[in-house]
Amino acid sequence: MKIFVDSANLSEISDVYSLGIVDGVTTNPTLIARSGKDPKTAIKEICDLVKGDVSAEVFSENFDEMISEGKALYSIAENIVLKLPLTEDGLKACKYFSNKGLKTNITLCFSAAQALLAAKAGAYYISPFIGRLDDIGQDGIKLIEEIKIIYSNYPNLKTQILAASIRNIDHVLESAILGADAATMPPSMIKELYKHALTDKGLEIFRKDIASTGHSI
Ligand code: G3P
Repeated sequence: MKIFVDSANLSEISDVYSLGIVDGVTTNPTLIARSGKDPKTAIKEICDLVKGDVSAEVFSENFDEMISEGKALYSIAENIVLKLPLTEDGLKACKYFSNKGLKTNITLCFSAAQALLAAKAGAYYISPFIGRLDDIGQDGIKLIEEIKIIYSNYPNLKTQILAASIRNIDHVLESAILGADAATMPPSMIKELYKHALTDKGLEIFRKDIASTGHSI
């Protein structure tokens, strides 16, 4: 499963990217706003650092403007994946760019029916929002399961499932168990994934035991 950092903060991205296990970055207008930078500058700096896919989202909700914003975003770097909302205009724009062989990420997906249409529009990634569904009392992980079944039923649909709006480690694990192709999460969540109290405790025991011998390597 690919692991993406959900952030537009360059120092945060750089910190987790140095681990060597991060496959790319996803951003959205909220994260770009939080970066405090000009959008194209923020995206360019991320693309200069990260080799893998970098999702950059349009701000417009209108087809013609999505096309022009999309062209501007794709021109920033070769690893740009254009993020488009799951709306009528977003689907049309997805089809427009996927017909040209360009990578798209359809975002704000909250139903399997939406995911089916995104795949029909040639989306490279579909981003189901797990946490925001849980927030309204629905089952976000169930959506991943449904999309996985539908896409598996039709092998001609090549869209990859990118689990998004991840709130906890269980979201990551359950997405992986269900076979999601990718998951995007805040940098702090990536760090939580490798931490375990027994790892720390085990190290402490090893440290004390070897110190008592006076040996070194
Ligand atoms: O970038 C898309 C998604 O991961 C947003 O997550 O936490 O704002 O629901 P969140």
